[in-house]
Amino acid sequence: MCDAQKEPATSTAPPAVQFINVTKQFGSLVVLKNLNLSVTRGEKVALIGPSGSGKTTLLRTLMTLEPIDGGVIEVDGEAFTHERIGGHLVPAREAHIRRIRGKIGMVFQQFNLFPHMTALKNIIEAPVHVLGQSREEATDRAVSLLRKVGLIDRKDHYPSQLSGGQQQRVAIARALAMRPKVMLFDEVTSALDPELVHEVLQVMRQLGEEQDLTMLIVTHQMGFAAEVADRVCFFSEGSILEQGPPEVIFHTPAHERTRAFLRAVLDA
Ligand SMILES: Nc1ncnc2c1ncn2[C@@H]1O[C@H](COP(=O)(O)OP(=O)(O)OP(=O)(O)O)[C@@H](O)[C@H]1O
Ligand SMILES: [Mg+2]
Repeated sequence: MCDAQKEPATSTAPPAVQFINVTKQFGSLVVLKNLNLSVTRGEKVALIGPSGSGKTTLLRTLMTLEPIDGGVIEVDGEAFTHERIGGHLVPAREAHIRRIRGKIGMVFQQFNLFPHMTALKNIIEAPVHVLGQSREEATDRAVSLLRKVGLIDRKDHYPSQLSGGQQQRVAIARALAMRPKVMLFDEVTSALDPELVHEVLQVMRQLGEEQDLTMLIVTHQMGFAAEVADRVCFFSEGSILEQGPPEVIFHTPAHERTRAFLRAVLDA
């Protein structure tokens, strides 16, 4: 994913995701502090940092699962909070928020599959009911996604009949079925037995090859971050303390706080 492989035209396009001075509080606890982050289309960004530093909160605000208290979040140059109608900026209506949110897919630590639906049914549910796709179209796409995550032979299994790694791969396929432009991953391997981690990382590696797909990945797997990410952002206390290419952040970080964190996770 070096820059030379990306389309030159992306430089004129708005960022895929932009946080501008975003603040988020839970009561008196300020969790994101005037946070700025700009992610270009197709960029793979790893978010690392200590527990409680705001990584999950950042992803949740981008999914509109958490309202923000200050600043602006834009996706493809459009803010969630406002929309342009007849040349005027007006407060966003629900349809506008839904349309922007539809560009984003998220996979969580817990897979949250529908337990009473097979793998295939889990994947076609939202495309049929939210996007209005025909059952045939959604099924065709689900089959190709199951093939992509290596689970076509498990399509009629229920979540309870799948391993954690298989369930997580179904969850990734389910998010991809909505054709998101941006995929968010929040520690998707941390609930898995160690021997199942690699199969999920392998699917994410494969996604990392897709030049148009923007990825924000919260992970404690530093080796994986180094391999897949174009950029690593180190979070500390609700801000990005430093960021840069993996080789810089992992080998010559500027801040002692980053060095201490990396020592701790690499020794663990
Ligand atoms: N719904 C909530 N209500 C109150 N406080 C919250 C809520 N969600 C998160 N917090 C607090 O916000 C801070 C940031 O939490 P967040 O989950 O974003 O951290 P994180 O960087 O993802 O940590 P971890 O690596 O442990 O997942 C923490 O202090 C947490 O306790
Ligand atoms: Mg978290």
